[in-house]
This record gives sequence, C-alpha cells and structure tokens, in this order.
Amino acid sequence: MTAVDGLDLRARLARRHADLLVQGGTVLMPSGPERIDVTCVAGRIVALGDLRGTWSADTVLDATGLHVLPGVIDSQVHFREPGLTHKENLEAGTRGAVLGGVTGIFEMPNTSPLTLTPADLQAKLDSASGRAWCDYAFYIGGSAVNAERLAELENLPGCAGVKVFMGSSFGDLLADDTEVLRRILRHGRRRMAVHTEDEARLRERKALVEASGDVRQHHVWRDVESALMATQRIVRLAAETGRRLHVLHVSSAEEIAFLAGHKRRVTVEVTPHHLSMHAPECYERLGSLAQMNPPVREQRHQNALWQGIRDGVVDVIGSDHAPHTLVEKSKPYPQSPSGMTGVQTLLPLMLGHVNAGRLSLQCLVDLTSAGPARIFGIEGKGRIALGYDADFSIVDLRARRTIRKDWIASVSGWTPYEGLSVTGWPIHTIVRGHVAVRDEALAQASPQGQPLAFLDVNLRSP
Ligand code: DOR
Repeated sequence: MTAVDGLDLRARLARRHADLLVQGGTVLMPSGPERIDVTCVAGRIVALGDLRGTWSADTVLDATGLHVLPGVIDSQVHFREPGLTHKENLEAGTRGAVLGGVTGIFEMPNTSPLTLTPADLQAKLDSASGRAWCDYAFYIGGSAVNAERLAELENLPGCAGVKVFMGSSFGDLLADDTEVLRRILRHGRRRMAVHTEDEARLRERKALVEASGDVRQHHVWRDVESALMATQRIVRLAAETGRRLHVLHVSSAEEIAFLAGHKRRVTVEVTPHHLSMHAPECYERLGSLAQMNPPVREQRHQNALWQGIRDGVVDVIGSDHAPHTLVEKSKPYPQSPSGMTGVQTLLPLMLGHVNAGRLSLQCLVDLTSAGPARIFGIEGKGRIALGYDADFSIVDLRARRTIRKDWIASVSGWTPYEGLSVTGWPIHTIVRGHVAVRDEALAQASPQGQPLAFLDVNLRSP
C-alpha cells in the first residue's frame, strides 16, 4: 500500500475497495467479541461488519477460527541501539516484536550514549526510520543534567515521555536525589515513567550478595523495602508537584496495596515475568537468566500482582525486554547483568494465561492495547474502531506451541522460556494495514514502522 491522496481515498471508499480485508475472525471490539469483517484504507479502519460481497480488497486475510485483537503495544523495551548493539538493535528488536504480535513499542533511554538531548532522540529516530517493523517511540531519560530542559524534550515528535531510574539497574542513568527528582517532576506535564528501587538501600545491602555470590539472593538484596520506599517517595513527590506518574514493573504485594490508594494520578505496569515466574524456583532452575530488576519475588507477590489485575490496579503489561548476551549473563553473580528478552514472548505467555483462566481475553486487550493508548494518549491506537489505525494482533487461541530460542529474533538469541509449551499464539500481525507477519512468518520485504504520535504533547501549564 502506498500513501493515497484525498481524492484517491474518496474514490476507493466510494468503490468499496480496501487495501486489506480481514474476514471471518472474532474481533475484539470495545464492546466485546464480534464475528465481523474489518477493512482498512491508507492504514485506517474504514468499515466493520458483515462485509462479504460488499467490499473488495488488494489483500484478503482469512481469519476464520482466529481472534483479531487491537495491536499489542509494549510500552517498555530496551533495544540497545546505539552503543550496545551486540545485545540488540532496532531492526531485530522490532522484528521480534511483530513475530510476537506486537505492533508498537516504547524504547528505553539507557543506551550508550544515554537518550538525554534532542540530538540523542533524533539519532534514535533516524536509526529506526526504514528499519523498524512496528511503530515506535523513544523515552528521554530524566537526570540532573537535563532536568530543566525536560518540558521541551518531552514534547519532541517521537518521544514517549520521560523515564527516570531511581535505583541503578543497567547503564549510567540515575536520579535518586530528592531535589533532582523534584526538578525533573516540575519540568513537564506528561505522565512520567519511573523505575522505583531505592539507590541508597541497594548500595547498603549489596555486600550481602557480594559475599555469597548466590543469585538466589537477588530478591533478598533488592528487597521489597527497596522497591516500596522508592515507590512511596516518588508518589509523594508527584502529588506535591501535580505530576502524573507511571510506575514500571511493579514487583511486590506491598507496592500493589500502596498504589491501590493512589490510582487517580498514578498508573501501574506489571511484566509477564513477574506474573509467570516466582522465587526461589526460577533462580534454582534458570540461575542468572532469571535475574531482573526489580527482581522476581516469591509466590505471594505474584499472587498479589494477579489480584492487582483483577482489581484494576494494574493498567498495562509491558515486557521490559532487556537483552544481554549469554556470555554476559554467565558472569559470576552479581557481576552478571540483570535483564532478559521478552518482547516476543509477551503475547504468547499472556495468551497462555488467558487459556489457563487467569484473565479474560477482554482484560488482556485492556492491558496491552487500550491501557497503553489511554494512559499515554497514543493517537489512533488501542481499539478496533472506525477511524483508528489498522493495527491487529491476530491470534489462534487453540494453537499449541513450544517456545524455542531459534524462534527468538533478538540479537542476544535466548529466552528464559525455552521449552515452555503454551496454548494461544500470534499468527498474523498487521501494522497500519501492512501485513507484517502472515502465518507466523515475516511477510514483507521491508519494515514499515513509523513513529507513534501522542495527544498530550504541548499541553500548556495551567
Ligand atoms: O533488569 C533490568 N534490566 N531492569 C531494568 O530496569 C533495566 C534493564 C536493562 O536495561 O538491562
């Protein structure tokens, strides 16, 4: 499909000839599942309903027996470009995304160099142009060096907003000082994303694991108190400065209980790994491959995250795709870096949870499409509706597959879910009407991803 001018578009609509017709599937509409067809022209949905015999199309995709979900948006990935491309890059990262049914991503700023300036952001946009298989936006890192410029930076095209690390994880991005955090929060209006672990407490307690070298202690070192202290501090500062907040990868029962009391201003992300793994089993089985920040904790925390989903405390599921090479991961703990791949396995794992009865398909759509679109104000995304972008994750809820590392597109080439069988699998992935993946394989010669656009940029201060 090429760009069409207004005249051509009107002619096509009048002739009822679409670029793409998805027919026969069960479509997850905002009002619930419906057996309807969907057509799109110039990347947008133009008709919904029983369209057989009334619409023709350049491409017809038969979705009989499949579920058509609004495209999955993964609002936390680390694609490592520039500077760390031996771990991941934008092409491979977004290829993994579409193979896993993801149609849009927000990429994190702890690259090398860090994403702190307009030039850093532009360099990422330039690298993504023509190489990204799905739509994308990039976070700007919030730190002492750019705090006063963040109101301007967060409004740049292609910017997902500001991300702050309150505790050191990977890379040099850190803002743990209360005065610096206040300065960051005061300069900008958009929802600010934050990694909440308390740096001072992490430093104090590191000797514990340096002495033992035992990865099973990862969640003991980076304990619940470290996470809760930082979460409470930033929520208080956000209230004081009138800022909306997004707490990334919430990992503990205590934080869910606390955040439940702050939902008017604060949104919550959980990850598939915190929902699917628990300590100590994951560390015993996977060693440092299960090492993430914040850590995977005991079963009671996983149970609380699921309860948080049922209670509506959780707004989105993001993968925190954070690849490191197997050589790096096999360094002795705690020199082994924290992080695992996840963008490609997000949807398969979550469909597995749907099939196991842990959440409904409608709830999954809310957490992976409608939720990110709502809380970040992503233009034209997050629902299957007339005029919205034609982004679809078309899945077979009955397909049983075993996750294998040779399926993983990431440069790092591994997954902690190697050998796991799941029921429910992405079959076709559509990005603005382009069939990126058809029958589980890349269907295009060239990537078609574009920058995401946001509704609440350039909001004026009151
Ligand atoms: O485990 C993690 N790894 N958590 C983060 O927040 C950062 C990430 C990385 O970039 O490797």
